[in-house]
Amino acid sequence: MRRPGLWLLPFAALLLALDGQFASAARPHVRSGRSTLSASGAVNAASRSLVIETCGAGCSNVLLTADNFGALGASTVTNNGATYCYGSIGVSPGTSMTGFTAANAEGSLDLGDTIAAKAQTDAHNGYVQLQTMPSSANLTGLDLGGLILGPGVYHFKVDASFNGNLTLDAYHDSSAIFVFQTGTTLVTSANAIVTLVNGAQACNVYFAVGSSATLGANSTILGSVVAYMAITTTHGTNVNGSLIALNAAVTLDTNILTPTGACAAP
Ligand SMILES: *[C@@H]1O[C@H](CO)[C@@H](O)[C@H](O)[C@H]1NC(C)=O
Ligand SMILES: *[C@@H]1O[C@H](CO)[C@@H](O)[C@H](O)[C@H]1NC(C)=O
Ligand SMILES: *[C@@H]1O[C@H](CO)[C@@H](O)[C@H](O)[C@H]1NC(C)=O
Ligand SMILES: *[C@@H]1O[C@H](CO)[C@@H](O)[C@H](O)[C@H]1NC(C)=O
Repeated sequence: MRRPGLWLLPFAALLLALDGQFASAARPHVRSGRSTLSASGAVNAASRSLVIETCGAGCSNVLLTADNFGALGASTVTNNGATYCYGSIGVSPGTSMTGFTAANAEGSLDLGDTIAAKAQTDAHNGYVQLQTMPSSANLTGLDLGGLILGPGVYHFKVDASFNGNLTLDAYHDSSAIFVFQTGTTLVTSANAIVTLVNGAQACNVYFAVGSSATLGANSTILGSVVAYMAITTTHGTNVNGSLIALNAAVTLDTNILTPTGACAAP
């Protein structure tokens, strides 16, 4: 006769292994741990969900004025095709953009002005805040595609890849935040999609990228991407959030950018 309890053993062992990885990491926000498994199988064993408290009033508005920008570059912002931004587009300390007219944006085009400079300062500070949050799980080497994750701060020592569908589950706490910290790049495949469930909001999702981000074609990215260097999007990818390159260019191609602004107070 099969003993069902044994089925759980490998999974329990994995959770213990994950716990071990974080034994020394500070986890002040962890309220309780639970695990999720999705129909797609083993990889989701790694998607142990940590339910965390919101980390203070600043968390829903980490980027301050920068979250009014659909795209904010440092050296330049370049666009190909029919991009539209439901917000502002800016560059600072660079002063020029190519491929835009006022018709591409509902907000303003801020070319090296004080508004763009302030937004870059806010974004630099927000990036440091995001990259220094204590991580609740180490996803180094895993692909974000196919994972179902609860609120948390997810760490990648080096690059992060994202091929497919990443589900973020807020467990009915609309103030829950999701932070992805990468040491180097973030690369998403064509048709990558972020799926938000149970109250998760794009304004509470942040990808803090240690070098540059490349977003593949025809994708739906819900959340802001703040890259230490450059961000390049590919044809047909839409973003609800801000694309912010702290020290290099943002390059766009036929995108719909919907900056979220700050999350409403819960
Ligand atoms: C995360 O995992 C990687 C690969 O196993 C390891 O090299 C790194 O030290 C871990 N980081 C932390 C903060 O535990
Ligand atoms: C993404 O995954 C969620 C379940 O986590 C599912 O409900 C949704 O249909 C998936 N979306 C796509 C486009 O596969
Ligand atoms: C993106 O979608 C367009 C229009 O549907 C299609 O022509 C193109 O091949 C797609 N690109 C990729 C890389 O899937
Ligand atoms: C993303 O932005 C579009 C407008 O471009 C809006 O219709 C949609 O509801 C937004 N989705 C989320 C999850 O915020």
